Amino acid sequence: MTRLPTVTPSAFRRLAVVATALLAVIVVSGAAVRLTSSGLGCPTWPRCTDTSLVAPPSYHALVEFINRVVSSAVGLVVAAVAVAALLRRPRRRDLSLLAWSLVAGFFAQAVLGGLSVVYGLAPGWVMAHFLLSMVLLFAALVLVHRADADWPRVTAPVRGELRTLATLLVVTASVVLVLGTITTGTGPHAGDSTKEVPRFGFPLDRVTQLHADSALLLTGLVIATLFAVRLTDTTSVVRRRAMWLAAAVGVQVVIGYVQYFLNLPPSVVGMHVAGATALWCAAVWLALATYSGSGAAGTEVVDGDVVHLDDRPLAGQH
Ligand code: HEM
Repeated sequence: MTRLPTVTPSAFRRLAVVATALLAVIVVSGAAVRLTSSGLGCPTWPRCTDTSLVAPPSYHALVEFINRVVSSAVGLVVAAVAVAALLRRPRRRDLSLLAWSLVAGFFAQAVLGGLSVVYGLAPGWVMAHFLLSMVLLFAALVLVHRADADWPRVTAPVRGELRTLATLLVVTASVVLVLGTITTGTGPHAGDSTKEVPRFGFPLDRVTQLHADSALLLTGLVIATLFAVRLTDTTSVVRRRAMWLAAAVGVQVVIGYVQYFLNLPPSVVGMHVAGATALWCAAVWLALATYSGSGAAGTEVVDGDVVHLDDRPLAGQH
């Protein structure tokens, strides 16, 4: 009987890192579709037009079609991670679950993207499409974190208060993201050149104000975190990640105000979407560092990898 190939823990983690990076890139490429008003460049889904799977030679159709091709490529890498999780030796149930949740999330994204087109880019669908991407990135980062063979063994001397603060940062960042998507759903960049796309009927200056206020609250929490990691006993990993988050927040707030005062030029709005994605990853990555060590119970090291006691291979299986 032919044996299936096996995947080493380090190869698996590298593949998970690539998938995570691609899941971040796809957020920005999706935003490019919206900001070039190409959202209905392919008016049907999964076909581009009623008669053709590929785009006709027009600018908006090609932008939307290229985004669909990029998305499919990302889907293949995500599927490869899921298969690799099954071939990884030793096999880990937590990693398999996370990897397959990415596949499920990716399919859900394809459906949401399709519904966004079917419902003529109604802002609720576009908003859900963006936010689900953030959920997928969250799961991907947890996967990369746990795929590191060292994670449960790092006995990070992180105080409970710091862990709470890092968790609060992620919660606050989620609120900022939701309010940001509501601002976008109210604003002028609907994603289609016909200008007939429905918008949320809120006053734009009020929702922008609320979104900016939440961003400033987040900034305050990040400053508090910088003090906390400096004044309490913690690891250099936590300190470094806190610095990255602070840099991401600083840049993002500047971009936010610049785009607002320049009346939302698409190029700067695109940078704001990229900044939001980077900031979200930085916040989750910092929080994960404060959770290192909490998984030590119930694990043991097999073949240089951490195995949950429930997942120990049966005799002769690996
Ligand atoms: C922590 C900092 C911030 C984060 C994480 C953040 C995040 C976001 C996100 C996720 C969106 C929606 C993107 C989309 O749906 O494609 C957005 C939109 C927006 N943000 Fe922010 N933001 C931040 C700070 C700010 C600040 C300080 C302002 C200042 C006024 C601002 C102004 C806006 C505006 C005007 C939009 C709508 C742009 C459009 O029409 O598409 N943001 N933001």
